[in-house]
Amino acid sequence: MVSAMTRSAVRSAFAPRMRLTLARNVSAWAKVPQGPPDAILGITEAFKADKFAEKINLGVGAYRDDAGKPFVLPSVKEAELRLLQQQLDKEYAGITGVAQFTKQAALLAYSPESPAIKEDRLVITQSISGTGALRIGGEFLAKWYPESKTIYLPTPSWANHGAVFRDSGLEVKSYRYYDKTNIALDLDGLVADLKEAPAKSIVLLHACAHNPTGVDPTPEQWQAISEVCKTKEHFIFFDMAYQGFASGNADKDAYALRYFVEQGHQVVLAQSFAKNMGLYGERVGAFSVVCESTEEKKRVDSQIKIIVRPMYSNPPVHGARLAAEILTDPALNKQWLGEVKDMADRIISMRTLLKNYLEELGSTRDWSHITSQIGMFCFTGLTPEQVDTLAKEYSVYMTRDGRVSVAGITSGNVKRLAEAIHAVTK
Ligand SMILES: Cc1ncc(COP(=O)(O)O)c(C=O)c1O
Repeated sequence: MVSAMTRSAVRSAFAPRMRLTLARNVSAWAKVPQGPPDAILGITEAFKADKFAEKINLGVGAYRDDAGKPFVLPSVKEAELRLLQQQLDKEYAGITGVAQFTKQAALLAYSPESPAIKEDRLVITQSISGTGALRIGGEFLAKWYPESKTIYLPTPSWANHGAVFRDSGLEVKSYRYYDKTNIALDLDGLVADLKEAPAKSIVLLHACAHNPTGVDPTPEQWQAISEVCKTKEHFIFFDMAYQGFASGNADKDAYALRYFVEQGHQVVLAQSFAKNMGLYGERVGAFSVVCESTEEKKRVDSQIKIIVRPMYSNPPVHGARLAAEILTDPALNKQWLGEVKDMADRIISMRTLLKNYLEELGSTRDWSHITSQIGMFCFTGLTPEQVDTLAKEYSVYMTRDGRVSVAGITSGNVKRLAEAIHAVTK
C-alpha cells in the first residue's frame, strides 16, 4: 500500500515508468508549423512599438472619435443603465438568441413593410456578430443549398471571407469588383464574371460600405447586378456589416438588400452591430433566411438550430439585450440613429478634409475617390512600397493594399497625414 511505503520507496517504484513516459512524450504539437501573422494585428503591433508621439494608425476597422479614442455611443450607455436597473438574470437564451433582438434586427434590415416579415416567412437567428452570421450561413448553404457548393466573392473582399466560407465547406471563387486603374466599380467585369459563373451559384454581395474598397454600386448598378443574378438564377448572400454607417441613414444603406428581396431573390443575410452600435467586443449579429412560406420557415429554422447547437449552443445575451433596448424604445432608437449619422458624418468630413489638404499641398493626382468612396474605408491607390515608406518614415500605418480606415483620421492628424501621403506620391 502506498500509504505504508517510505517516500524513497514510492519514488523508486514509479521512477522507471515516469522516465519511459517522458522519453515517449515528445510534445503532441511538435510538428505544428508556425502560421502567418494576421495582417491587421501586425500593423497594430508595429504601431504600438513606434515611439513617435504623432504616429497615426489607420489599420484597425473600428470607429474612433475626433480625439482618436474608442467611442461608446451615448445610446448604448443609456441602454446599459436601463438593463442594470432591471437586474435581469443571466439564464441561457434559446439557441437562436434573444427574441426581442432578432425581431428588431429583421425590421431594421428588411423594413416593417417587407413581405417576408409581414407574411411570417423570415427565419432569423442571433449570431456571434457578423463573422458568426457568415459562418452559420456558410454551414447552412454547404449543408442544404442543393444547387451549388461554390460561393463567389468580390475581388477584393473582406480579408476573412475566404477562410470563413472555406471552413464552412464551400468552395470559394471570385468575381471582378474593383477597377484599379479608375479606382471605381468594375461593373462590366462584375457582370461578365457573374454571367460566366455556372447557373445557381452562390454570390456574396456587400450590402453597403464595401470593405476594403469603399466603392459601392449606385442604385442603377445594383439593378444591373440584380438582373444578371436573376437571369443566371444565382443565390444571393448579403453581408451587411455597416448598415447606417455608410450614408448615415439606415434605410438608405439597406437599399440593395430590400431591392433584391422586392425583385424576388431568395436571399440570406449576415448582419453585424459591431460598427453601427459600436458593440464590437459584445459580438452582436444576426443571420436570416428569406423563405417561401411559414411552413418552410419552420423547417429551415429547425436546421439552423441543428447547426448552431454543436457550435456554441446559444449566443451571449448582454449585447443583444442592449441592441434590443435601443431598437425597441422609440426615443432611444431615434437618438441612436442620430449618433450613427454623427459617426458617418465625421468620417465623411475627414474624407473631405484629407482631399482638400492634398489639393492645397499641390498634389497633381486625382483624389476624387477619397470622397466618392463610402463607409469606414478608403482605398487610396497607394502601392505597397509607398505604404512601407509611410510607416517607416512618417509613422503612418495602414494595410499594404493601401486601405485606410478613415475612422482613424481626426481633425488633429489629417493635415500631417495629407503631408505624408503627398510626400510619398509626388
Ligand atoms: C465586410 C465585413 N463583414 C463582416 C465583418 C464582421 O465583423 P464582426 O464579426 O466584428 O461583426 C466585417 C468586419 O470588419 C466586415 O468588414
